[in-house]
Amino acid sequence: VKKNKDAGDVPHIRTPIVCVLGHVDHGKTSLLDRIRGSSVVSGEAGAITQHIGATIVPIDSITSMSGSMKSLNISIPGLLFIDTPGHHAFTTLRARGGALADMAIVVVDITEGFQPQTIEAIQILRNCKTPFVVAATKLDRVPGWRSTEKSPFLKSFGNQNERVTLLIETKVYDIVATLAEHGFSSERFDRVSDFARNLAIVPVSAHTGEGISDLLMVLIGLAQRYMEEALTLTVDGPGAGTVLEVKEEKGLGATIDVILFDGTIRVGDEIAIATTDGVSTTKVRSLLQPRPMQEILIEDRFLRVKEVVAAAGVKVSAPGLDQVIAGSPVRVIGDEPEDVKASIAREMTEI
Ligand code: GTP
Ligand code: MG
Repeated sequence: VKKNKDAGDVPHIRTPIVCVLGHVDHGKTSLLDRIRGSSVVSGEAGAITQHIGATIVPIDSITSMSGSMKSLNISIPGLLFIDTPGHHAFTTLRARGGALADMAIVVVDITEGFQPQTIEAIQILRNCKTPFVVAATKLDRVPGWRSTEKSPFLKSFGNQNERVTLLIETKVYDIVATLAEHGFSSERFDRVSDFARNLAIVPVSAHTGEGISDLLMVLIGLAQRYMEEALTLTVDGPGAGTVLEVKEEKGLGATIDVILFDGTIRVGDEIAIATTDGVSTTKVRSLLQPRPMQEILIEDRFLRVKEVVAAAGVKVSAPGLDQVIAGSPVRVIGDEPEDVKASIAREMTEI
């Protein structure tokens, strides 16, 4: 099974983490499914690595799906997409792991516009200074919309009658106005001249695939900027992550699903975790990843790996995880001297 790219010759650049956020039922999972699906269709099947709570889509397939010829200067394995369910745990998760997402897609149902959790999402992204793009989805639901499968937005937009065109303009303008109320200057993506100053709004449909190539193109632009700043980031240090969920697994007991956003975690590492009784330490017994699709019939759902490199999603099995708090940080402290371990533990209680 493919691990994260960690060959010795390339600089160890961390995989950018892309969070997909938005109001309940606005279409986050469908959008991700479409991105994953198109990626499989574009001939990259098998290269997509399913992680615990996340998916890595290879950068090459994103570049080819976006129809962009521009190749990236620096090799990164891909983008790690994290789907966030529309439940409250997300707030905790984001507030704690300010560094968790490198960029985000804010999904908003174009027919419904901004809703409470959309607002919550942009407030969190603003606080964390996380760059993002707005996907105005369910374009095909706009009354009178005539779909052209997988077409770029402008091409489909050109095929609409005046009434529909006007309706879309109004809907997009509503989003622009709401974003302005929250201090963001934004424009429909094709009208943005300076992506550093203006947020891009990309109208899309997960069902018809319209606008998806445009969305990916904007995302590549954000990733490029991220990589220029991230050149100094290393994945060689001790692992740091955020607990997504605490889960009971048959035969394993309590496990934690972790998004590792920095460094490396190995079997046998000592980790510090936040529990209801305060910070405690334990030793990693096993690191588990979902099996590839084709091995779905194998009894054991998980594959044991020796180490995991950021960014990645991984299930950690270790003694004493039942009291861990979802949304709390996890740190590898194995190699640290005792006084450093103590200060890490102190730091964690302050979070
Ligand atoms: P939560 O995870 O519960 O917050 O929802 P979500 O944001 O992941 O939404 P999800 O992708 O599950 O979609 C919710 C509903 O909207 C489903 O019935 C989808 O089929 C539908 N839907 C999502 N995207 C589109 C779209 O582009 N067009 C249409 N017509 N329906 C869509
Ligand atoms: Mg969902």
